[in-house]
This record gives sequence, structure tokens and C-alpha cells, in this order.
Amino acid sequence: MKTRELGNLRVPAIGFGAMVLSPGIYGDIDDARGERAVRAALDAGAVHVDTSDAYGPGGHNEKLVGRAVKGRREEVVLATKFGLAVPEGEESRPFPVGYAFGELRVNAEPRLVRRYAERSLANLGTDVIDLYYLHYPDPGVPIEETVGAMAELVRAGLVRHLGLSNVTGEQLRRAHAVHPIAAVQNEWSMWRPIDSGLLAAARELGAGVVAWSPLGSGFLAGSVSEVGEGDFRRHAPRFSAENLAANNDRYAPVRDLAVDLGITPAQLALAWLLHQDDHVVAIPGSRTPGHIAENAAAADITLHPDTLERIGKALARFEVSGGTLL
Ligand SMILES: NC(=O)c1ccc[n+]([C@@H]2O[C@H](COP(=O)([O-])OP(=O)(O)OC[C@H]3O[C@@H](n4cnc5c(N)ncnc54)[C@H](OP(=O)(O)O)[C@@H]3O)[C@@H](O)[C@H]2O)c1
Repeated sequence: MKTRELGNLRVPAIGFGAMVLSPGIYGDIDDARGERAVRAALDAGAVHVDTSDAYGPGGHNEKLVGRAVKGRREEVVLATKFGLAVPEGEESRPFPVGYAFGELRVNAEPRLVRRYAERSLANLGTDVIDLYYLHYPDPGVPIEETVGAMAELVRAGLVRHLGLSNVTGEQLRRAHAVHPIAAVQNEWSMWRPIDSGLLAAARELGAGVVAWSPLGSGFLAGSVSEVGEGDFRRHAPRFSAENLAANNDRYAPVRDLAVDLGITPAQLALAWLLHQDDHVVAIPGSRTPGHIAENAAAADITLHPDTLERIGKALARFEVSGGTLL
């Protein structure tokens, strides 16, 4: 697969987001299916695997990824995150999210950073994390202090590259002044533009952008007509029955464009993203080997400038109902 640079880290243009493999996020899934999905991603060349200590209870997702890559660790660029799975007994601070439940909590105090990393290393069954992200900046801790502690992990050889997730351009600049940041991971897709100040800062500093939920939590693949019990999208305003129906109607012209091009809507959404910047990569999540191979193939799709213009016009008319998640 084609590769791209996130700072000094080379990764495939399409990676794999493992969050979908923990139960209760996109509905039910068992671990055997989850492990097969990770291996399908590696087989398809999507060897940049993204997880977090906060996906699933008790490090479930990291542990699953660790088992799935066992024996193939050298092939993999392993990325994980910390800050939201706060150790028991430690305080945490709230930050607002667009889900119906309203807030999540974070603790990114420097004194906890090594403990987080050691727990993730144990969960993953590895002795080094290739890309280690702060999952969300702690409103009670200057980002410089958190990143200072993350830099210690690099010096100690526990972590190779540093990343930040869900940050602003200003936070990226402040953090980068303490230690080079290889990647920022923010939501970016056809229905969620990236903040222009963040993109400008990333370009200027040489940080790559890892686009989370690049398929709009599955919506942009074009076949979500309802969300069932145990699916976290039930809390997301864009997926309420009324909004989902309206959004599907308004998205139809983009879906039709994919049909015209002889590719799937998911591939169009991913290829479009890769054409936005030379240093953007996507980490779609999927439980389904056929979808995983389809998504990986999007790395090789070239969109003609006329096509990009048609997509741009269709997206300008695509008015989304329901607020964003973060
Ligand atoms: N940093 C953060 O705060 C943050 C937040 C959210 C997500 N993330 C990262 O981003 C990754 C991806 O995000 P995500 O999983 O939320 O959303 P996504 O990748 O936009 O969408 C995943 C959904 O799309 C469906 N899908 C995937 N490929 C498909 C295809 N070719 N055709 C039809 N349906 C397809 C999947 O269903 P199937 O299983 O049926 O294929 C799944 O329901 C996560 O795994 C996580 O690593 C990070």
C-alpha cells in the first residue's frame, strides 16, 4: 500500500481503527471475530493499527489488538492513547462532547503518564508503543506539562513517536515547542471538516493528520438506515431516526457519484480524504474482512481534479442535521 509520513513516522495511507472491535461501541462483537478483523487489516496492508486504553472496559481493545498482532509485531505500527481511562481513585475533569450523555472525563497529569504507558504496554504485550497519543487535552493541566512527561517516555525507550488527539492548532503549537509531535488525530471526513487553524499548524510544523471516524462512523459508507441497541451511535444526534433519514436523503448525490465512478461510497469517502493533504491518513474501523479489503484499496484510487470539484460542490450542498461529537 502507498505510504505517507506523520512527522518521521512512515505509515500506510489507510490504517485500521480498532475501536469497533470492543463490545457496546458498534453493537455486539466477540473477540475471535475482532482478532480476525485485525489480522485481515494486516493482510490488506493496513498495518497502522489504532487503539486506546479507553476502548472497552479494562483495556479490552488494547488486549485484543495485542493478541491479534502476536507473532507479527514487527509488521505493525502500533498506536494507542491515554488520558480517558483514569486509574481508580484518581480525580478527573470533565470536557463536553456532542453525545447525548454530554461529557467525558480526563486526567492527563504528568505524574500519571508513565503509569498509563506501562499499563498500555502490558495490555498490548509489547515493549514499545510506536505512536502514543494524549487522547484529549486535560482542561486542568497545561498541555506543555503533559507533553513534557510524554517526552520522558521517548527518552526511556517506551514510546517512539508522540501524538495528540482532539486538539486545536494553538495546543499543537504549544506542545510541539516541548517535543516534536508526529501526528494529530482529529475527526475529519466528508461530513466533518477539519479546523483550518489545526491543519495550518500541522502543515507548518510537519505533523501528519490522522483522520478519525473517516467514514462518519459508518454513515458515509452509505448503508446505515438505523442503529440498534448497544450501538453508541444511539447517543449521537446525527444518527437519531429523524436526522439519519434527512442526512441519508441529502447524502444521496455523493453516493451516486461513487456509483458513477465504479467505486463504493466508503472508497470515495476515504480517497477524497487522502486527496485533501499529502500528510493525511485515514483509520477506518470495520469488523468485516470484505470491508477492510475494500477500504485498503481506496489508497490506490486517484480522483481527477474535475471529480474533486464535483464532490466539493455536492458536499457544499450537503447540509448535515445533528451536531458533531467533539
Ligand atoms: N481520537 C478519538 O477521539 C477517536 C474517536 C473516535 C474514533 N477514533 C478512531 O477512529 C477509528 C475509526 O472510527 P470509527 O470506527 O468510529 O468510524 P468509521 O471508521 O468512520 O466507521 C466505522 C463503521 O463503518 C462501517 N464500515 C467500515 N468500512 C465499511 C465499508 N467498506 N462498507 C460499509 N461499512 C463500512 C463499520 O461497519 P462494519 O464493521 O460492518 O464494517 C463501522 O460501523 C476508531 O477505530 C478509532 O481508532 C478516535
